[in-house]
This record gives sequence, C-alpha cells and structure tokens, in this order.
Amino acid sequence: MSARPTPAEDGAAPVPVTFAEIARRRAAGEPIVMVTAYDYPGAQVAEAAGVDIVLVGDSGAMTVLGYDSTVPVTVDEMLMLTKAVRRGMTVPLLVADLPFGSYEVSDEQAIRTALRFVKEAGADAVKIERGGTSVDRARALVAAGIPVMGHVGLTPQTAATLGGYRSQGRTADDAARVCHEAIELQDAGCFALVFEAIPSAATTAMRPYLRVPVIGIGAGPDVDGQVLVFHDLLGIYGGPTARFVKRYAHLRGEMIDAVAAYAGEVRARQYPGPEHGYGMPDAEAERLRVLLADSGR
Ligand code: KIV
Repeated sequence: MSARPTPAEDGAAPVPVTFAEIARRRAAGEPIVMVTAYDYPGAQVAEAAGVDIVLVGDSGAMTVLGYDSTVPVTVDEMLMLTKAVRRGMTVPLLVADLPFGSYEVSDEQAIRTALRFVKEAGADAVKIERGGTSVDRARALVAAGIPVMGHVGLTPQTAATLGGYRSQGRTADDAARVCHEAIELQDAGCFALVFEAIPSAATTAMRPYLRVPVIGIGAGPDVDGQVLVFHDLLGIYGGPTARFVKRYAHLRGEMIDAVAAYAGEVRARQYPGPEHGYGMPDAEAERLRVLLADSGR
C-alpha cells in the first residue's frame, strides 16, 4: 500500500496534506515531493500526480510571465498566479513565494504582504529567501500565525549580490555561512527550508544541524525532499537549464509540433472536418436559403 495519504483509495474525500504530515514524512524518512505550478491546469496536474507540496514560485516571473529574472514580478502578479493554482487543487500544501521587494522593508510589510497571499489567494504558507533580515521577517510572520518556508543557498531574488546564478557553499567558510542561515531560519520557526544549488557534500555536512524538512534543488540526495520547476521537468521552457534539472518530458517540442500541425491543416483546408461541425436538418437549411433570398440579403 502507498504511504501517500492522498487521494483516498476508497472514494472518500481526499485528505489535504498538512504541516504535521510534512514533519511526519521527514521523521519517517519518506521523501517529500514538491513542484512549482503557476496556473489552474498546472495545479490539477500536480494534484493528479500526487505531489505533496506545490510552490507558486516566483520562477513564474520567467517561466510564464516572460521576465528575464524573478526580480520584477509584483505582488499582484503573484497573487493572480496563486489564486489560479488554488482553484486547481485541494490536496497538496500550497506555498506561495513572496516577491522581491514585498517583505524586505519591515516586519509589518512582510506580514501585510503574506496576509494577502493567505486571505486573498488561499496559500497555506509563504516562502521567503535568504538569511540576514529575512530571519527577522520569518520570526515575525510565524508569530503572526503565517507558516513560513525558508530558502538558502542560491537565492535568485538576490543573485546579483551572490555573483550571479552560481552554486553557493563551495568553500567550507561559505558552506558554514549557508548552514548558519539555515539554522537561524529554523530557529525563527520555519516549517521547512529550500536548499538551492549547494554542493552535495556541504548539504550532507549541514544535515545533522537541521530538524525541519530540507527540500533540495541542486543540493544532492541527502535531503528530505526535492523540488523542480514545472516547466523544467516537463521540458516546456526553451533555452538552457541548470545542471540540477532533469527533464522527464519534452513537451515544448510536442507543443510546437501540435500547433504547427493545426496551422498546416487550416491552411490545407483539412481542419475542421465534418465531425467538428454542428448539424442542421436539410429542410431547415433549405428554408434558411429561401428566407435569406426573400429578404434580399
Ligand atoms: O521560484 C521557485 O521556483 C523556487 C524554487 C526553485 C524553489 O524558489
């Protein structure tokens, strides 16, 4: 029998994934599966595939909104994506990224922004990036009753200050810095942490210091779960991908082929066929011709 609690096999209502269930998975050594989603069909796919956590990542800035980084995406844009995902699923835990600039100024700003994601968009939790001042923000959010996921290592919102999109913690000193950030976020009350682009050996060394679930993306296998960007794993997004991405499908090629086939059939007058049209009794069609002829149009 599957250890996965969703959806119920006996036809009963599916059981939503809870924070307690995520903690239990870690304690039981059962890998946690997280994926990003940005819209209604994506959320439906994630739920049908049985993932545990869906992240409305600010990676959506690039994958679905076409920005060249995650920096410009706004609260209103992320709220729209989060609402669409919420409408598409009920079982996975729904975590929403707070966009850059929406939580750095003060605890009050962070709480005000996060409350919008919880109240207006139905997020179960929010994710914020970095250590430093984000530790204070995490503590304030948790104190306000908002569950928080932390994110250390490569933090794309501040990639410029990290020297670009590069793996982090490649020296002992830098790995210790990342580890201290993670411990501070854990102590601030984060229910889970994302480790992005960290050498596998560094992750392994940090693990004994962490008691909350660590979800890795390019952090090696010694974590409690993995996350991938929806468009990366499905091969929807064109262009180069990070080293840690594994493509489980190549949908972009299939999508282009399908749209090109449609265009070809329209141009060749092969689509639509008779089976794609609506019928009308011959007598009605004849009566219509007479009616139109009589009215002179
Ligand atoms: O925005 C995002 O997709 C993320 C994941 C890579 C963890 O933060």
